[in-house]
Amino acid sequence: MNVLLLGSGGREHTIAWKLSQSPKLTKLFIAPGNAGTDALGTNIEINPNDFEAVKKAAIENKIDMLVVGPEEPLVRGVSDFFANDSELSSIPVIGPSKAGAQLEGSKDFSKEFMERHNIPTAKYKTVTAENLEEGLSFLDTMKAPYVLKADGLAAGKGVLIISDLDQAKADLKTMLDGQFGDASKKVVIEEFLDGIECSVFVLTDGLSYVVLPEAKDYKRIGEGDTGLNTGGMGAISPVPFADEVFMKKVHDRIIEPTVNGLAKDNLPYKGFIFIGLIKVDNEPLVIEYNVRMGDPETEVVMPRVKSDLLDLFEATAAGTLNEKSIEVDEQTVTTVMMVAGGYPEAYEKGKEITNLDQVADGMAFHAGTKLVDGKVLSNGGRVIAMSAYGANMQEALAKSYKNANAVSFEDHYFRTDIGFDLK
Ligand code: AMP
Ligand code: GLY
Repeated sequence: MNVLLLGSGGREHTIAWKLSQSPKLTKLFIAPGNAGTDALGTNIEINPNDFEAVKKAAIENKIDMLVVGPEEPLVRGVSDFFANDSELSSIPVIGPSKAGAQLEGSKDFSKEFMERHNIPTAKYKTVTAENLEEGLSFLDTMKAPYVLKADGLAAGKGVLIISDLDQAKADLKTMLDGQFGDASKKVVIEEFLDGIECSVFVLTDGLSYVVLPEAKDYKRIGEGDTGLNTGGMGAISPVPFADEVFMKKVHDRIIEPTVNGLAKDNLPYKGFIFIGLIKVDNEPLVIEYNVRMGDPETEVVMPRVKSDLLDLFEATAAGTLNEKSIEVDEQTVTTVMMVAGGYPEAYEKGKEITNLDQVADGMAFHAGTKLVDGKVLSNGGRVIAMSAYGANMQEALAKSYKNANAVSFEDHYFRTDIGFDLK
């Protein structure tokens, strides 16, 4: 099969790496890809949100399947675009319909979905300029800290956690006034949940599903989970506290009702569901849904999947996932993200990355890189995810850190305490 994979991050390099191991793969194209994916297939320099360009690439390269990495093309409706185009409709898309992608594209939609299907989550209220007063009164009934979420996609920046009530009220007004553009014309006010987070990944054909290994990511820039939120500074799989008892609760109370809910609500969905969970008093609650894999979670989840990913994608497209099971590697996989100095605020690109050939006993998944005249240059805030296997977390982390210390680029940074809160 010829596969076209949309995206350019560490998630896509990892999915490309995993697909390359499949005997079913003929040619792999990645759009736009990075220096890492360049070694595994053909990069096509197009914007994944430019559907006409994606169409041209799909036809020119005789694509048999489209795999969508990031959320934006999904929320903009790339699956529907393929389904409704006579030249593309026979090409299956791994990624939900525009309607299904609302689970990530609208926090209000996802909260209503959870309420409708009795899926445990934080108490909430959705506010617009029209019912601002209700929102302010709702905040009066809540305890600090206060959680405000922009309804729409806001490049990972749309969630505010505020300790002071007056500040929360002021921030609510600023958000509704367009702090995050149209994304915050609606705001979800949520009860703050105090617990430890982990993420669960499901691949579904809309009726049945397989559950991938769970992971925990480290979102803050600073050691000890301090400082600004980032896309993710490292990740670990498996998650020690996600034991059998906890995962059974997740399965019965969250995964089953989520997949059944998609079918009941007639939301066409063939793709990944990323369920962000928080454990409060040993009980799982949903913090958010994403309609794609996580990054850097993919960099620890995919290396633990032993099954053929392309075979699973074929079954997803055919609606026969009920015939599949998933084989998981018992080892631990960790990843440590090397980022550009200054990230997640202003940072520079174009720094030469050296010593990549010294990476041993691990995988250097490229998150933000570009091949220029045979040199690998940094091309984003997150640059390289150093993944490694180990018999346990300590062993895997030791290898991730050895490789992160070997590779270099000017002004790079990584957290040295990934996994600090886990035993
Ligand atoms: P989200 O974009 O919904 O994943 O939110 C980003 C991050 O904010 C989450 O990963 C949590 O760390 C935090 N967060 C979101 N909602 C809540 C909540 N209700 N209680 C506590 N923390 C939250
Ligand atoms: N690492 C969090 C995300 O992919 O959304």
